[in-house]
Amino acid sequence: MEINTIERLKKEKNAVILAHYYVDGDVQAAADVVGDSFTLAKLATNLDAEHIIMAGVEFMGETVKILNPDKHVYLPDLDADCPMAHMVQVEKIEEMRKQYPDLAVVCYVNSTADIKAHSDYCCTSSNAAKIVSAIDSDTIFFIPDGNLGRNIQGQFPDKTFINNDGCCPVHDQMTPEKIVNLKNAYPDAAVFAHPECKPEVLEHVDYKGSTKGILKAVGDLDRDVNIIITEQGLLYELEKNYPNKKFIFPDMICEGMKKVTNEKIAAILEKGINEIHVDPALAERAKLPLDRMLAICN
Ligand code: 13P
Ligand code: SF4
Repeated sequence: MEINTIERLKKEKNAVILAHYYVDGDVQAAADVVGDSFTLAKLATNLDAEHIIMAGVEFMGETVKILNPDKHVYLPDLDADCPMAHMVQVEKIEEMRKQYPDLAVVCYVNSTADIKAHSDYCCTSSNAAKIVSAIDSDTIFFIPDGNLGRNIQGQFPDKTFINNDGCCPVHDQMTPEKIVNLKNAYPDAAVFAHPECKPEVLEHVDYKGSTKGILKAVGDLDRDVNIIITEQGLLYELEKNYPNKKFIFPDMICEGMKKVTNEKIAAILEKGINEIHVDPALAERAKLPLDRMLAICN
């Protein structure tokens, strides 16, 4: 698919394409903005375009729609999903609220609209600790990603964390043994990992943080060889930013993100298909924890 065709269609339709770092490089090249989950959510509140194509998985498209109820928001592939977004149920939240009256429910943005609507605060991997530090409650129910909760709870010795048992199937497959093997193979390399990995994995890394954080930290640490423990899509932006550095990625691929193609984006622009709809009453409730996150991290 020619990028020029997409460029022409975008102008004709007054559309913008937002893309996450995990989609294929040719999709990132065609996008107007590429970012981590927080950057994309924040930016989505400031767009003039009438049509927004979210090149990512379902929760990302839903988040953009919740923040822009009057705009047309599209997902290149309606089956592009994040399995972790479904790893907690509303019944579980209600049960926990009954058990702990002081509970604050902190919901990772990788979650369904329904789960957001039953949560108190949203967060992303780049701001989870900042959000928790703004909460008065002593008891935090961190959903749906148990690893992210476990990875920040050490910063809050006065709070009780209850971490849901969900996880990202892509990042959770990484083990300390695999990292040690990679470090032995590349002894001079720096190691960077996403906080969706298990805590025992992060003990072996030089930097832990969101996709955007990793991009910056590679420049800060400034090593020739870099082991990157996250989804392989990030390689596109890393190579663009640091053409002289070497990047080693383990075999970590997010199937949902890989469903996004420029052909599917062009089909949206030509036919107006794959629009996302969120029930307005649900969207209004789901917007509250997102608005709180944006206010804390403005
Ligand atoms: P970021 O917020 O770091 O972009 O992560 C999103 C995600 O889905 C990681 O698996
Ligand atoms: Fe979900 Fe993991 Fe894919 Fe991120 S990498 S979208 S958390 S499955």
